[in-house]
Amino acid sequence: MESLIGGRRPFGAPRGLGPPTKTCPAAQSREAMRRDNWRAKAASACNDASVTEPGDPTAPQTTDRPASAATPRRGRQTGEPSMAREPDYHTGRPTKVAIVGTGMVGSTFAYTLMLSGIASEIVLIDANHKRAEGEAMDLNHAVPFAHPTKICAGDYSDCQGAAITVISAGVGQQPGETRLELVRRNAAIFRGIVPKIAEANPEGIIVVATNPVDVLTYITVKESGLSPQRVFGSGTILDTARFRYMLSEHLGVDPRSVHAFIIGEHGDSEVPVWSLANVAGMRLPSFCAENGIPLSPDTMERIFSQTRDAAYEIISRKGATYYAVAAGLMRIAEAILRDQNTVLSISSLITDYYGIDDVCLSLPTVVSRRGIERVLRLDLSPKEARGVRSSAKVLRATIESLGAASNPG
Ligand SMILES: NC(=O)c1ccc[n+]([C@@H]2O[C@H](COP(=O)([O-])OP(=O)(O)OC[C@H]3O[C@@H](n4cnc5c(N)ncnc54)[C@H](O)[C@@H]3O)[C@@H](O)[C@H]2O)c1
Repeated sequence: MESLIGGRRPFGAPRGLGPPTKTCPAAQSREAMRRDNWRAKAASACNDASVTEPGDPTAPQTTDRPASAATPRRGRQTGEPSMAREPDYHTGRPTKVAIVGTGMVGSTFAYTLMLSGIASEIVLIDANHKRAEGEAMDLNHAVPFAHPTKICAGDYSDCQGAAITVISAGVGQQPGETRLELVRRNAAIFRGIVPKIAEANPEGIIVVATNPVDVLTYITVKESGLSPQRVFGSGTILDTARFRYMLSEHLGVDPRSVHAFIIGEHGDSEVPVWSLANVAGMRLPSFCAENGIPLSPDTMERIFSQTRDAAYEIISRKGATYYAVAAGLMRIAEAILRDQNTVLSISSLITDYYGIDDVCLSLPTVVSRRGIERVLRLDLSPKEARGVRSSAKVLRATIESLGAASNPG
């Protein structure tokens, strides 16, 4: 007999109120109940003489609705449960997303994704399974305020069928630590988890968020064996957002109206593309001259250093950054799930660009349901081209120091 305390099942008890596990039994039984209820209703509706085929002139009019309103709804015609969970109606494909690493970044992304309603299922995977379970429970309790979404804790086999697996597992950046200093610890973690994800889901897209994101994206491309079209990192999506925000503050316009990119490494060697930055197609020098806004080299240096060093500033105050990167991951997920062909500065395997080869770094990239459609090869100023080449050199040196580089030829 089940033990109930004060009429309630103890926390963690095996049935009913227990944490959502990888197979989401509670969600599955709710789904089954909904289907059974629907079938019962459909059967009784079919036996009901008041429900008639469209266009039957002999049918008694049971309501004074116009004829068009009496057209049977889809479920009655097909016998299909009309209340069953639908795949994404934009693409007709399932919208399961797996998140590996449910710390601050992974769980904030899961929350953002659940609020957006674009995923039908979210699976949370973490070395600390209890944490993943706790996050799943907390998120499930927000579902009634948002959108129907199956959320559960799982293991790597649950990556199967996910349109996207986001990896945010690893150790975070410590105050004063560079992203590249994190590499050895996180590379070892990735060598453990990436083959498991690829084995469970050879068809899906992998998006890396863990730092140093460019090097770990490279390791993921190599360790997964997946097409580089379907493996990429969040790269400078966050730095680009920060740059647009800092510029918008200076220019006095909505950040969404500022078109500017940070390219190269997500880190200290990243490169602001000043030469192509614009508002409504006006390059910044013209926009500023027209509007009486200063744009001296000092101002530009201040805006860029605030962009580049933002993570250090935030980490020194609150210990981690997660809201903005989660919003960036959300934007990537939306571009994929909604098949949007959105241009995003993400990190991918680059070949033959200003002499750069076989390294992952960020350039504006068209992202769709298939992953990377194409990388946009910007026409850079000589200074910017030098900058992105030296970013590639920094990354290449790290990759080689890990013994992760491709064999020549
Ligand atoms: N790309 C970006 O723009 C960006 C921005 C912010 C943070 N980050 C990076 O994201 C990563 C995660 O940051 P966070 O703040 O969420 O850290 P966190 O410590 O809060 O979470 C990391 C999670 O990974 C889990 N984990 C560790 N090893 C694992 C393994 N082998 N398998 C599965 N799970 C494992 C931990 O249990 C933990 O829950 C860090 O590397 C951080 O630097 C990237």
